[in-house]
Amino acid sequence: MVIAKPYHRIRKSNLRASPNVRNADGQDTNEAPPIQVGAGEETMNARSPWSEERAAAVIAANRHLRGALLPMLHALQEEFGCIDEEAIPLLARELNLSRADVHGVVSFYHEFRRSRPGRHTIKVCRAEACQSMNADGLIDHIRRRLKVDFHETTADDAFSLEPVFCLGNCALAPAVMVDETLHGRVSPARFDAIAASTLATEAAR
Ligand code: FES
Repeated sequence: MVIAKPYHRIRKSNLRASPNVRNADGQDTNEAPPIQVGAGEETMNARSPWSEERAAAVIAANRHLRGALLPMLHALQEEFGCIDEEAIPLLARELNLSRADVHGVVSFYHEFRRSRPGRHTIKVCRAEACQSMNADGLIDHIRRRLKVDFHETTADDAFSLEPVFCLGNCALAPAVMVDETLHGRVSPARFDAIAASTLATEAAR
């Protein structure tokens, strides 16, 4: 069963490249243009406040599915941004499981968050092609810059940092995805520019 979001299965037809990247003098640069995945809108993380009533509705909407626990967990995370502690007894009761059983599944899969994510999620590829293009050096830079490790959120709640294993952008390694936008050939300096631009776009809304 596939748990992680299947970025490696993103079809080329679903990827929309933005215009070529040019510098201030209008010349093409060596940087790969960002790629927008999905609807084309850069979206922030879902942050609906916890609601037992809403959680019960989400669980009910998935109870007909086979192996319903995982779809329920994904749907709850989609709705609230994480698996709230209060969701555990609801799931256990619905599926006739112990709370420990549900806890065990949630903690087994890194995909499920126990705390709310930052407003933006940064996913950094750790797979082979990116490793060969110094993804580790980039990751060190990002950790220092944001002052967080993987699976953590910055103090200002702006960014959560997550590892992924192949974003389907191997030819443009190292690759980073910020919310729904895929970036290739990301250097430390470029990462800083991407993070700054993400915050500037948010502030302009
Ligand atoms: S290895 Fe494929 S995008 Fe990093």
